[in-house]
Amino acid sequence: MSGIDALFQPIAIGAIAAPNRVLMAPLTRNRAQADGTPKAMAVDYYRQRASAGLIVTEGAQISPQGKGYIDTPGIHAPEHVAAWRKVTDAVHEAGGRIVLQLWHVGRISHVSLQPDGAAPVAPSAIRAKSQTFTPNGFEDVSAPRALRTDEIPGLIADFAEAARNARAAGFDGIEIHAANGYLLDQFLREGLNRRADGYGGSAEARIRLVIEVAEAVAGAIGADRVGVRVSPFGRFNDIPAEGAEETFAALYRRLAPMGLAYLHVVEQFPGTTPDAAETDALARLRALWTGVYIANGEFDADRAADWIARGRSDAVSFGRPYIASPDLPVRFRLGAALNAPDQATFYGGDERGYTDYPALERAA
Ligand SMILES: Cc1cc2nc3c(=O)[nH]c(=O)nc-3n(C[C@H](O)[C@H](O)[C@H](O)COP(=O)(O)O)c2cc1C
Repeated sequence: MSGIDALFQPIAIGAIAAPNRVLMAPLTRNRAQADGTPKAMAVDYYRQRASAGLIVTEGAQISPQGKGYIDTPGIHAPEHVAAWRKVTDAVHEAGGRIVLQLWHVGRISHVSLQPDGAAPVAPSAIRAKSQTFTPNGFEDVSAPRALRTDEIPGLIADFAEAARNARAAGFDGIEIHAANGYLLDQFLREGLNRRADGYGGSAEARIRLVIEVAEAVAGAIGADRVGVRVSPFGRFNDIPAEGAEETFAALYRRLAPMGLAYLHVVEQFPGTTPDAAETDALARLRALWTGVYIANGEFDADRAADWIARGRSDAVSFGRPYIASPDLPVRFRLGAALNAPDQATFYGGDERGYTDYPALERAA
């Protein structure tokens, strides 16, 4: 096996048989209806990308409270399930596999997006220096309130119910979004979680919510259909990364024996260069994971194939390349050029910059 062939070895990702290792990363596109129901154009968008080894959808809020941006989809109402069903049917008919990313934004929200104009929730009442997109354009996120301990069982139940809804909508599984500074990531962080109720303090206490969510979701739909996404050294959404290696080592050690489908790690962020100490720490953390490991961030075909050949990762997910090149695997196989992504149409809008990027035969 040489070169990019490593990308085209089939792999079992838990219960999911993926024919290649060129996976689609979750990508929020802000094109759902205001009530969180995906629009018909999402059916075309995901169908066009069905040749991915596995599609991870954009984040879908597990509850009205979990919403943090305008026009993101949900997975907590019958209308959501019915609309997503059309997406999963189209992907499966086209020969693909698709899991839904379950999202609760925590403090990265705005009162105008919350039920009854309430404050967003967080592990502790610490406001992010961050912005979100609301009906009024970009605005600073609102000051959050700390979740009460008696609200945590309901939050965990929302994740489990969302996972059941995802299966009812035909998804092959779900991904728990514990990355990029949203609610579960907020709980993991020493600098953001000052709770004294057993969900904050030591690393063991800060990882507890993610573990309990993973257990509940695995209990609802089976561990082999559940993935977890993390970003140990991410700083997006005003995340303090201090103490990250210790925290994530504890998390990986607790998650590893659960028999989950995969761990998905954002290792590098758009436009950043890797820091040597963090690169070493990510490799040490990777060695703790015994299941399927998916790496993400600023990869191209050659680097992805090299990582897989060396066992640094089992598969690689691609974000922006899949926005612009719906047929990414065949382009990698042929060494063909990729389409250029148009950043102006990443978030919100219509079919332009969404379903009108040409596939190879039409691009020629
Ligand atoms: C437009 C856009 C939307 C994104 N939405 C999500 C999301 O919903 N959930 C998530 O975990 N990451 C999200 N990300 C991060 C990507 O999944 C990925 O980690 C990042 O783009 C780096 O990968 P890349 O270099 O292959 O693009 C988003 C990134 C972009 C550019």
